[in-house]
Amino acid sequence: MKKISLTGIKPTGTPHLGNYLGAIRPALDLTKTYDAVYFIADYHALTTVQNGAEMRENIYKVAATWLALGLNPEESLFYKQSDIPEIFELSWALSCFTPKGFMNRAHAYKDKVAKNTAAGEDPDANVNMGLYCYPCLMDADILMFGADIVPVGKDQKQHVEFARDIAIKFNKHFKEDVFTIPEPVFAESTGVIPGLDGRKMSKSYDNIIDIFLQPKDLKKKLGKIVTNSQGIEEPKDPDSCNVFKLYKLFATPEQTEALAARYRAGGMGWGHAKAELQAVLEEHLGVARDKYFDLLSHPEEIDKILAYGKEKARVKSKAMMDKVRNLLGTY
Ligand code: TRP
Repeated sequence: MKKISLTGIKPTGTPHLGNYLGAIRPALDLTKTYDAVYFIADYHALTTVQNGAEMRENIYKVAATWLALGLNPEESLFYKQSDIPEIFELSWALSCFTPKGFMNRAHAYKDKVAKNTAAGEDPDANVNMGLYCYPCLMDADILMFGADIVPVGKDQKQHVEFARDIAIKFNKHFKEDVFTIPEPVFAESTGVIPGLDGRKMSKSYDNIIDIFLQPKDLKKKLGKIVTNSQGIEEPKDPDSCNVFKLYKLFATPEQTEALAARYRAGGMGWGHAKAELQAVLEEHLGVARDKYFDLLSHPEEIDKILAYGKEKARVKSKAMMDKVRNLLGTY
């Protein structure tokens, strides 16, 4: 039997190249050797996305992204978190085994408190209970389906460690191996993925490049990547250039070397470099882009795929909840 790789993506906006390189591509690579359980974490997004139309649109975008990039819903479990009521039941049960101190120490919560305190505000200003209890819901996501590994970004390490700790605690308490002990795994480091302004690509810096853009929109977007003011004839340093840094993440070593040589030789302007970047992005993502926009124009297809995933996932989640309820005596 193959081991299980599980991860979720929050539908908080349009997936960008940073999400692709840091999370989606590595998770898809793991489907070759693991059984994949990949889902849309919509109730996690609810801590910030509180508009129905926006949530619905984001869910379709994340679903279409996974599918366009090749996640096979037949061979994997692919579902929407909110379709699995057992996850919320398990989340409550696990929260009763979770020391409150864990939540106090959770990075996202602590960061908010630190910012509020620095601004002279109430420490808990703008902290909703969803944000505070976020890790308990994530524990349920992970433990419900017996995840062996959880591919995530480094920022999620602590959350997976909470899930480990709670699983161990629960198993010990009931003297039974109810939950598999999950392990976080991190994508091979791609280094920082630069956004348009050279800072780390992030929605909060407003410097993202969407994974899927039509060629003319992509051209416009790449036009905004910040470069220096060197003229065409001047020799240029590839390694300090944001365009080159992005190029390198998609190109083969040979392509990378060839472009570096053109930088150093001079006679190549920023427009040329950006055209090379566009070409390599097109090569990688062009086919998937067409599939993505096709899916988005047929949301009923996405609905069907998610309904199928829900059916398959609930066979497992119901069995797990039966087991848990039996131990808790609530059954
Ligand atoms: N918290 C994760 C993030 O912000 C998303 C997520 C929700 C998740 N549930 C999960 C990731 C379970 C891995 C496993 O990226």
